[in-house]
Amino acid sequence: MGFFENMGNPQGKLGNIQLKSMNKEHTPVSLWGLKHLDIAPDNIILDVGCGGGMNLNRMAQTAKKVYGVDYSIESVKLSREVNEDLIRMGKVEVLEGNVLDLPFDDDTFDIVTAFETVYFWPDIVKSFGEVKRVLKPGGMFLIGCESNGADNLIMKMSEKFMKMTVYNDEQLCEFLKQNDFKEIKAYLRDGKTKKEIIKYDGKEIVIDDDYNHFSISDRFVQWMTVTGIK
Ligand SMILES: C[S@@+](CC[C@H](N)C(=O)[O-])C[C@H]1O[C@@H](n2cnc3c(N)ncnc32)[C@H](O)[C@@H]1O
Repeated sequence: MGFFENMGNPQGKLGNIQLKSMNKEHTPVSLWGLKHLDIAPDNIILDVGCGGGMNLNRMAQTAKKVYGVDYSIESVKLSREVNEDLIRMGKVEVLEGNVLDLPFDDDTFDIVTAFETVYFWPDIVKSFGEVKRVLKPGGMFLIGCESNGADNLIMKMSEKFMKMTVYNDEQLCEFLKQNDFKEIKAYLRDGKTKKEIIKYDGKEIVIDDDYNHFSISDRFVQWMTVTGIK
């Protein structure tokens, strides 16, 4: 597999290198996304498309247990390596699996997260339905993306080379609505103005964003986090 296919399904040595690089490069946007989660010490969390496993590591610092699932065996391997100690302590578990058929019972998780992965999901409405199935009633689904779709030229160009779809906040909210998620919110971060726009219930509020981590693309992308409650 080549560089571009590997982003959506990392394979082999190149896949391993790319996953390690994503663990680093996705840190700013992931930390900003995680800012919107209120993790409690008794929470059981699932991270879908866990990639190199850094977000499992971060969330397991607070949660009771964090599961990772990914359909790439290379991602599963690296996630297990990165979280070796936490796995030994019983705080992290990583499984091979596809979002369309999650290997978990109904109503299992307090929180399900998906960072930089929904672009690659097949039948996105059905995939969101599968996430909802494994969430407990009242549980939260959080989607973290490095781009709010159309604003980002790089992501738009990536669509041409990779089998991926870059969504905007309205589309993601609509897919959540179609699955009867409640209290749907979209958080958008403007790298230029350092403002955060929060959209919910047809309202839009703008707050100053004191978030201080930067990535190369920080100046010209609008980061996006979208949440919905089962
Ligand atoms: C761009 S990487 C992001 C990895 C990690 N979440 C991060 O933020 O660095 C996308 C990951 O999603 C996984 N993925 C894509 N489609 C998937 C699916 N249908 N089911 C499970 N995992 C999937 C890929 O294998 C890959 O590890």
